[in-house]
Amino acid sequence: MTAPDVVVVVGSVNADLTVRVARHPQPGETLLGSGSAVSAGGKGANQAVAAALQGASVAMVGAVGGDPYAAPATEILRGSGVDMSAVATVEGPTGLAVITVDEKGENTIVVVPGANAHVDADFVEERADLIAGAGIVLLQGEIPADGFAAAVRLSTGRVVVNLAPVIEVDPAALLRADPLMANEHEAGLILEQLGVGITSDVPEDLARALLDAGFPSVVLTLGAAGAMVATGDGLTPVPTPRVTPVDTVGAGDAFAGALVARLVAGDDLIAAAGHAARVGAFAVTGHGAQTSYPGPDATLPEVDDA
Ligand code: RIB
Repeated sequence: MTAPDVVVVVGSVNADLTVRVARHPQPGETLLGSGSAVSAGGKGANQAVAAALQGASVAMVGAVGGDPYAAPATEILRGSGVDMSAVATVEGPTGLAVITVDEKGENTIVVVPGANAHVDADFVEERADLIAGAGIVLLQGEIPADGFAAAVRLSTGRVVVNLAPVIEVDPAALLRADPLMANEHEAGLILEQLGVGITSDVPEDLARALLDAGFPSVVLTLGAAGAMVATGDGLTPVPTPRVTPVDTVGAGDAFAGALVARLVAGDDLIAAAGHAARVGAFAVTGHGAQTSYPGPDATLPEVDDA
């Protein structure tokens, strides 16, 4: 059964173990942190939650382990109404992200995949009906590459990709992304993976090179500078509200989830990216990933036109 208004996220579910530090440690250095927290994360789960909180019907395809981290990793997914029927509990640990956040709100993240490594082609194909019926299939880079390719192959609707982290995937599957969402660093790595040599890191050049490589559309995220939407009609800068960041963990995921929520509701890509920028800006003003996402009644920051 096809459900054009449903978003299916095929991706990771993690427990985030976060420590606050004055500054990030150098190799070989021991620092004292201030406070630690275990919270819900994983780029797949974060994007699913963000989309659901922005009003989309969302189903998650993924896996958690049989350990105590499974409960905190899935708590907000359940609470935000994401359909969890295609999330399996497998042997071994839940995916774990070890995160440091410094005084400027900037982070470092190390992810141990754990159960997310089970989301391979066989796992995805067992959930073929759900994926084939989705209006949008949303993917990231925290599951095995063959699981990624299988999800694209099964999709009959729109495929949206945020290849974070950048893993080697089948180029034909990757080029189905409409849009591809990437930051400047990821854009460079993706071009390299597609065999496109580019020396420029100017956003316009990166966006044009991605279009030339074969992506139907691209959303380049530029942090505090907003985003750039690139399609066959041209390049459109998307401004973002000016906010004081507290914690940037999961802000890109908030953007991605909000973007697909608006796309599945019928917005065009530029309007969807404009809304996503405001949701991403909201997310950096709170702690954690999913814990910082705006609910449907939240007041989003406005873009300052001055
Ligand atoms: O994008 C932020 C996320 O990256 C965290 O929630 C962490 O789990 C890692 O997947």
